[in-house]
Amino acid sequence: MVSPRSAIQALPAYKPGRNPADLAREIGVDRAIKLASNEVAFPPLPAVVEALAAAARDTNRYPDNGAVVLTRALADRYGVEPAQVATGCGAVTICQELAQAFNDPETSIAFAWRSFEMYPLLARVAGAHAIQVPLAPGRPGGPADTHDLDALAAAIDDTTRLVFVCNPNNPTGTAVRGAELEKFLDAVPAQTLVVLDEAYREFVTDPDVPDGLEIMRGRPNVAVLRTFSKAWGLAGIRVGYLIAEDPAVAESVRKTHMPFSVSTLAQAAAVAALGSEEEVRARCAAVVAERERLTAALRDRGLDVADSQANFVWLPLGEQTATIAAALEARAVITRPFAGEGVRVTVGTPEEDDIFLAALDDVGAEFRSS
Ligand SMILES: Cc1ncc(COP(=O)(O)O)c(C=O)c1O
Repeated sequence: MVSPRSAIQALPAYKPGRNPADLAREIGVDRAIKLASNEVAFPPLPAVVEALAAAARDTNRYPDNGAVVLTRALADRYGVEPAQVATGCGAVTICQELAQAFNDPETSIAFAWRSFEMYPLLARVAGAHAIQVPLAPGRPGGPADTHDLDALAAAIDDTTRLVFVCNPNNPTGTAVRGAELEKFLDAVPAQTLVVLDEAYREFVTDPDVPDGLEIMRGRPNVAVLRTFSKAWGLAGIRVGYLIAEDPAVAESVRKTHMPFSVSTLAQAAAVAALGSEEEVRARCAAVVAERERLTAALRDRGLDVADSQANFVWLPLGEQTATIAAALEARAVITRPFAGEGVRVTVGTPEEDDIFLAALDDVGAEFRSS
């Protein structure tokens, strides 16, 4: 009998998220809403739709495996050399390519926990150890929702090839500030690559939260990971990118790149999205305004919600997490629970968020009366 590697056998099987149409059918309502995947609620940008239609005519040909036009557009936009840029089939694939490029078996990958769910999985797939450093309270008496960079620096050992710092952190939405990040980067050994995962960078409004691309300058062991899936509205198209201070880091990602995995459509869509940045900024501003409204509404209800710098908010519901998420789902609202810890809720349209708040009130009333 064939047998996958034990690390792969131990991985949990993929569990698809709930689909709103299926849920609506199941519970007999017209409509369910999904606030679970940190997508933006806006439709694709008009320029993207146009670019996709035009690029569709070329799909009998393989994509440009070097993504030359997109790489140049990113380099121009961010003021770096094309050699510092690597594109990938979503930022998540670049995470895997980084692990392939930097982690021999028995080396390690360090990151805060809880953070982006993929980090422990990619460590296992690479045969590397995952060094998981617990989040710490971001404010006195508050829940553990913030990077503890001193502890993360202390946890790095001579096996550690990669460190992910998710800023702002998925799923808690908290962000690390410039001074603490600089101190951390100063403490990381030169042979460890620090990847600043800035999937949600475009939603950051706190001026003290540094732009990874600025803090990276002059630090050859730092790279920044970003995606077109969130602010740029291309989650279904799959494009992410890495910008590294040292071109050799970007080159290592290009060497492990799954050939042709950034499709012709994806490259065209990403270039068109970059050309629509003003519109994207306006959309992000709307998401941020709605994030602040949602945060205030949740705090009015007595919930201890941290300031989020992303397009989602975190409800630290502890042991009640699974029950409350299930009760919301029974009311046609899909959120993202992390059992025993909390629920992540993506900022939706004002209408969707009002539906969520009403469902939450209803759940609260039911709990109080039972
Ligand atoms: C922190 C973080 N990094 C990376 C990704 C991957 O994004 P994608 O693969 O869609 O580009 C996500 C997606 O949810 C994320 O939350």
